Amino acid sequence: MGEQNPTILVTGASGHLGRRVVDLLLEANAGPLIATTRHPEKLGDFAKRGVTVRKADFNDQESLVQAFGGAQRVLLISTDALDAAGTRLRQHRTAIAAAQRAGVKQVVYTSMPNPEDSPISFAPDHRGTEETLANSQLGWTILRNNWYMDYLLMSLVPAVTHGKLYGAAGNGGAAYVTREDCALAAVAALTSSESSNRVYNITGPTVVSNEELVKLVSQVSGRAVEYVNLPAQDFKAGLVRAGLPEGFAQILAESDLAKLQGKLGPASQDFQTLTGRVPVSVAEFLTAHKDELSASPGKVH
Ligand SMILES: NC(=O)c1ccc[n+]([C@@H]2O[C@H](COP(=O)([O-])OP(=O)(O)OC[C@H]3O[C@@H](n4cnc5c(N)ncnc54)[C@H](OP(=O)(O)O)[C@@H]3O)[C@@H](O)[C@H]2O)c1
Repeated sequence: MGEQNPTILVTGASGHLGRRVVDLLLEANAGPLIATTRHPEKLGDFAKRGVTVRKADFNDQESLVQAFGGAQRVLLISTDALDAAGTRLRQHRTAIAAAQRAGVKQVVYTSMPNPEDSPISFAPDHRGTEETLANSQLGWTILRNNWYMDYLLMSLVPAVTHGKLYGAAGNGGAAYVTREDCALAAVAALTSSESSNRVYNITGPTVVSNEELVKLVSQVSGRAVEYVNLPAQDFKAGLVRAGLPEGFAQILAESDLAKLQGKLGPASQDFQTLTGRVPVSVAEFLTAHKDELSASPGKVH
């Protein structure tokens, strides 16, 4: 008789990443599976497919201890509670304490690149969470997910329209990775029997600069786009003038500063080591979204 598969739990299962991870786990017949969320009513489809759905809020430790009961391997998806009051780090510490109380063996955590040394204002949340795991009695796997390629469309679609991409990254870039590849990496970490404590840098195949981005998007869309490099403050001010909320503009400016300083790289082989697959490149991703990029009503050059 073989040992029963460990019970796998995914937090934040109604978010984009969490939902996809649960889908992939179901496809792989992994499990038993538990999905936790603040909104169980959104996960009726998973319940119908045999997933145990439980309510859990990282602001409530008792709810988490109950929700984590019986789980051996837990994917702790970082929350989106970005504020100056340290809410996100407090939430993650609460979840880690609850996992320990509930008898969880291994926590897989979605972190960011170079959290120990980054100009990005939310880096201390990830650094603090990694440190909390390292000081806990739990086994842990840190997935330092690079910047989602998916969000490139937000800046590249208007760049195609206007013929210009603005930024503050100079010659620096990011080792962008698709959210789908982040989901695949999480599934590999959850279904592995590894119990040692490891950090994986989940990246795409190469670091891509803003100059390289405009070359690629020009090729894919058939419209000439040039890159305009600005000081970070001017880049941020331009984004605010264009209607972005101040906090979001600040994060985008900080991200470009991180690219400039090489903090969103280098590219790593870790995705391949973990999953046995080659990560999607920016060129492949943009080609797959050619229609969105070409539909932009810009001037044809
Ligand atoms: N690498 C990148 O470029 C990048 C970009 C954006 C975000 N991120 C990070 O990666 C995470 C997952 O990405 P995503 O695309 O799936 O984001 P998303 O769709 O916005 O999901 C946000 C996630 O936060 C969870 N959450 C928020 N407050 C919570 C709370 N009090 N207790 C428990 N869970 C809470 C949500 O879970 P429920 O709603 O199910 O409770 C959901 O899974 C984000 O939360 C963020 O930390 C990374």
